[in-house]
Amino acid sequence: MTDHVIIERPEAHPGVQVIRFNRPEKKNAITRAMYAAMTAALAAANTDPAVRVTAFLGTEGCFSAGNDMADFLAFAMGGSMGTEVIDFLKALATHEKPLVSGVDGLAIGIGTTIHLHCDQTIASDRSQFRTPFVDLALVPEAASSLIVPQVMGHQRAFALLAAGDAFSAAEAREAGLIRAVVAPAEVETATLSLADRLAAKPPEALAIARKLLRGEQSAVLARIEVEAKFFAERLQSAEARAAFEAFMRR
Ligand code: COA
Repeated sequence: MTDHVIIERPEAHPGVQVIRFNRPEKKNAITRAMYAAMTAALAAANTDPAVRVTAFLGTEGCFSAGNDMADFLAFAMGGSMGTEVIDFLKALATHEKPLVSGVDGLAIGIGTTIHLHCDQTIASDRSQFRTPFVDLALVPEAASSLIVPQVMGHQRAFALLAAGDAFSAAEAREAGLIRAVVAPAEVETATLSLADRLAAKPPEALAIARKLLRGEQSAVLARIEVEAKFFAERLQSAEARAAFEAFMRR
């Protein structure tokens, strides 16, 4: 168990489950225990009729700086990666109810790719989306190599996923990665009121509409597996180890 992820069902937002990153001292970097907690929350939401929508939120100024670098380094040094990350990615991609997210500030690595599996994302105007996979000698994950080119075309997908360019909130909205940009103080209210609106809709019709819109799940799951194979291989490369060590030494 971890208190680095807080799972809540706020009374003021009936039908809404909130998954909140709560590790601000490490920029909400995600550890194996945090992935496991999120997977469990998604599974619980699927089977509990009281949950109609799940909202991902971070803390002030930071959604998430992505996978914990110490976990990456431990694996690069021969440790076990466990199944927590892949379990979470599959739970996310196959989740049966609407997912929304609210971003204020940093959204790096999976802090960006998580939104590809959300149905609506609201971000503050100071948010920044970045996936420095290749800079870390890694490759895209979370089926981003499949979904991002579909969403924004090859040129912008390459900029985000391969060149590691940072996208501002305005650029992310223009590219179709997120739905709306608001002031930092409005992110949570806007995200939760969106969740409230969705939670009030007929749940079965909404679930079917969502499924139709999201398209073929098997292709997404297959891409998650293919990426994970390359990712695990790259994690153990000398160039990735050097990148993680450089980060840890700063
Ligand atoms: N994993 C583990 N710890 C992380 C982290 C991560 N992904 N991102 C940040 N942290 C930690 C830092 O090590 C630091 O810890 P410390 O205070 O014990 O030294 C703390 O969070 C604050 O980060 P810091 O780098 O001092 O803040 P910053 O504002 O200067 O920079 C970032 C923030 C996010 C730009 C920078 O930390 C960064 O580049 N992080 C790595 C992001 C990344 O590459 N993620 C993986 C993507 S696949």
